[in-house]
Amino acid sequence: MAARDCKDIIAMFVAIWAIILVTNSLQVRGRLPIEEDMELDRQLELINKSPLKSFQMKPKTTPKEKGNEASRAYKSSNYMPKHIKCPPGSVPIRRAKKEDLIMAESTKSMGLNHPTYIPWRCSNGGDGGHHFAVLEHKSQMYGTRARVNIWNPSVKDHQFSIGGMWIANGPKHDINSIQAGWIVHKDVFPNGSRLYTYWTGDGYQRTGCFNVLCPGFVQVSSVIALGLILPHSTFNGSQSDMLLSVYQDHASGHWWLMFEDKYVGYWPKAIVPRLGDGAGSVSWGGQIYSPVTVLSPEMGSGHFPEEPYRVNYRIAAYIIQIKVVNDERDSTKFDNPKDDALKIVVDKPSCYKARHLVDEAAGLGYHVYFGGPGTCTY
Ligand SMILES: *[C@@H]1O[C@H](CO)[C@@H](O)[C@H](O)[C@H]1NC(C)=O
Ligand SMILES: *[C@@H]1O[C@H](CO)[C@@H](O)[C@H](O)[C@H]1NC(C)=O
Repeated sequence: MAARDCKDIIAMFVAIWAIILVTNSLQVRGRLPIEEDMELDRQLELINKSPLKSFQMKPKTTPKEKGNEASRAYKSSNYMPKHIKCPPGSVPIRRAKKEDLIMAESTKSMGLNHPTYIPWRCSNGGDGGHHFAVLEHKSQMYGTRARVNIWNPSVKDHQFSIGGMWIANGPKHDINSIQAGWIVHKDVFPNGSRLYTYWTGDGYQRTGCFNVLCPGFVQVSSVIALGLILPHSTFNGSQSDMLLSVYQDHASGHWWLMFEDKYVGYWPKAIVPRLGDGAGSVSWGGQIYSPVTVLSPEMGSGHFPEEPYRVNYRIAAYIIQIKVVNDERDSTKFDNPKDDALKIVVDKPSCYKARHLVDEAAGLGYHVYFGGPGTCTY
């Protein structure tokens, strides 16, 4: 928990993590072999002793909301940790623990894929245990903002369930992608839905990193740390969500992450070269991973969006008030997505579904409901 970890927090300027994760085939459960344990200790020493570098604290340009600010009627109570205190000019970094490295490695071996680029070659749907249910916007864009409903779906060992946004550009084998949202990943985080990010600069082959466990994402916020435990919603009860923005700063070309009105940090354009001049697509929704030998986990609330779709609020997971920075290179506005660029993409509709609606009057704007109970075999 970010607040608890504050004491552990390394209060320093951190730009480049000098670490390459080299361990192979880590045991996710159970005792680690002694050599692997020592290797993890060595890596932790490297990660937690990061070099000092100066970095940008704010983007030069931040797109504005076009027209009226979307209604906040559906926003849950403010849950930003208030008790984190760090010296001025310093940032909170969750001190990396052994479990984080194991998670980074196990996540990598699971292949944290870009949802709509997962090959469709299996006749029974999906590939390598990934399934997704998203709303995709295929059009040149420079950023997105949306309010993401937070859930704590039930997952078993070696499974994960994600809700959030995926930005991408490039061909499948060399896709450059940035993701942000929440993840439930029981192997490493025994409880809670966590704020997470991920990026890859080469189609998830050699580069790619979860949160800040390798060179890449540059944390600047002194309040919001990646890995933060997020309060989750309850079925047919109180709802919790977070406003996430990911957009390219025209001045620097870096991609920034905002959580509510806070700048969390940025992905330097150098690590995602194919996102140097905008992105070709963005998707909003859910993704799960499961070993093929186990029944698949819940996605979102664990419930399908069902008819009538308008009453899915509190039932199915939502992403509402979806905005994009459209194609003009100098655009400085979060605008509605283009209708003709939007498409629901679901790879296993019997297990996970997504529904796209527009309802400005209710303050939901462009939105998507997604999820399902899982329990599918592959
Ligand atoms: C999560 O688990 C830890 C122990 O692993 C516990 O200290 C903490 O209170 C739990 N948090 C929640 C939100 O359940
Ligand atoms: C949600 O709660 C309301 C009020 O308690 C109840 O009338 C309704 O049937 C519930 N809906 C579902 C899907 O459980």
